[in-house]
Amino acid sequence: MSIIVTGGAGFIGSNFILDWLQGGDEIVVNVDKLTYAGNLDNLTSVQKNPRHQFVMGDIGDTALFAKLLTQHTPRAIVNFAAESHVDRSIHGPADFIQTNIVGTFRMLETVRSYWTGLPTQEKSAFRFLHVSTDEVYGSLGKGQPAFTEQHRYEPNSPYSASKASSDHLVRAYHHTYGLPVLTTNCSNNYGPFQFPEKLIPLIIHNALAGKALPVYGDGQQVRDWLYVGDHCAAVRRVLDAGQVGETYNIGGGNERVNLDVVRTVCTILDDFHPKPDGGNYQSQITFVKDRPGHDRRYAINPEKIQHELGWKPAETFETGIRKTVRWYLDHQAWVRNVTTGAYRHWVEKQYSL
Ligand code: NAD
Ligand code: DAU
Repeated sequence: MSIIVTGGAGFIGSNFILDWLQGGDEIVVNVDKLTYAGNLDNLTSVQKNPRHQFVMGDIGDTALFAKLLTQHTPRAIVNFAAESHVDRSIHGPADFIQTNIVGTFRMLETVRSYWTGLPTQEKSAFRFLHVSTDEVYGSLGKGQPAFTEQHRYEPNSPYSASKASSDHLVRAYHHTYGLPVLTTNCSNNYGPFQFPEKLIPLIIHNALAGKALPVYGDGQQVRDWLYVGDHCAAVRRVLDAGQVGETYNIGGGNERVNLDVVRTVCTILDDFHPKPDGGNYQSQITFVKDRPGHDRRYAINPEKIQHELGWKPAETFETGIRKTVRWYLDHQAWVRNVTTGAYRHWVEKQYSL
């Protein structure tokens, strides 16, 4: 038995693969385009594991995907592959449209054709799990109830609009063709291997480098944080027991104001890695121009996945953030490889890019 994971060299995908290989005996075929966000250093510990098979490729490459499906006859696809950074989507939306919408569409077409030809039993057991985001629901005002699965879609950035489009395509492939799909909409993740363009790893990196800690606007925007391992466990649970055609919101009830998150990271760093000059890291906080169209607040209502599938997070924000800061301090070589671009050299050599 095997599964195909797309985007498995990225932040959440690599955590998912590392966790997956801890148990069971299934092969994971990891299809990743190795964009700037894909980093095989995340998977060094499983490089020689015969259950992990890496394929460099694009989810929109129909010929490649069709070949992989025939070759591996997977029982499931877990789709993490995406352009994922909101700020990048503001500066250049084209890649987001290409991968998140066109790529997902092409993959769905290829998977539909493969799935249609499966014998009856395999056909009903097959699953296409699409990993999406809470950002598709738009922004909440203070005091408004957290997003349920019934909340209407109101995406505000090119990133969230492209993810919303992919969610709609996945839904349509179920309703129109019967493809057995599952969709998850998760809140902000943090943890090991997150690319230091996202808030938490960026703050850790800049703090240690003595640089400004950029807080957008007034820093009062709210995000609902979930430790990446808890997200991965939720995805596994939905894959195992989710109702076909359903969507599941994933979140840990950890709403935090951005400025508080930054201050928390600074306080933990003061404890784990005091500044050589005896000062504190909060002195590096700098308010900068706000992100255009910045969503004010996200919050997830996770009751459906908790009640129907029995999932709940293992980490609180307080435990998860300490683990995360510790991880970054202990993996400075990984951070250096990413921030200097050294992690790309192997890719360029190997694939003659
Ligand atoms: P990431 O940017 O760290 O990783 C994305 C991975 O996808 C990279 O390895 C990249 O090389 C690969 N990729 C990009 N385009 C591809 C293509 N056309 N074909 C094959 N591979 C391609 O992203 P992440 O933070 O790990 O997010 C993974 C998924 O989870 C995304 O779909 C994202 O929308 C969703 N999500 C992320 C968060 C979060 O807080 N990070 C929260 C909820 C949902
Ligand atoms: O909600 C889930 C989403 O969370 C995922 O779908 C996205 O893939 C993921 O990138 C994340 O989106 P955000 O825009 O919320 O994450 P980011 O880390 O970019 O920013 C978190 C908050 O911090 C946001 O309100 C913007 C703010 N911010 C971010 C950066 C990078 C700053 O104030 N300063 C910064 O330098």
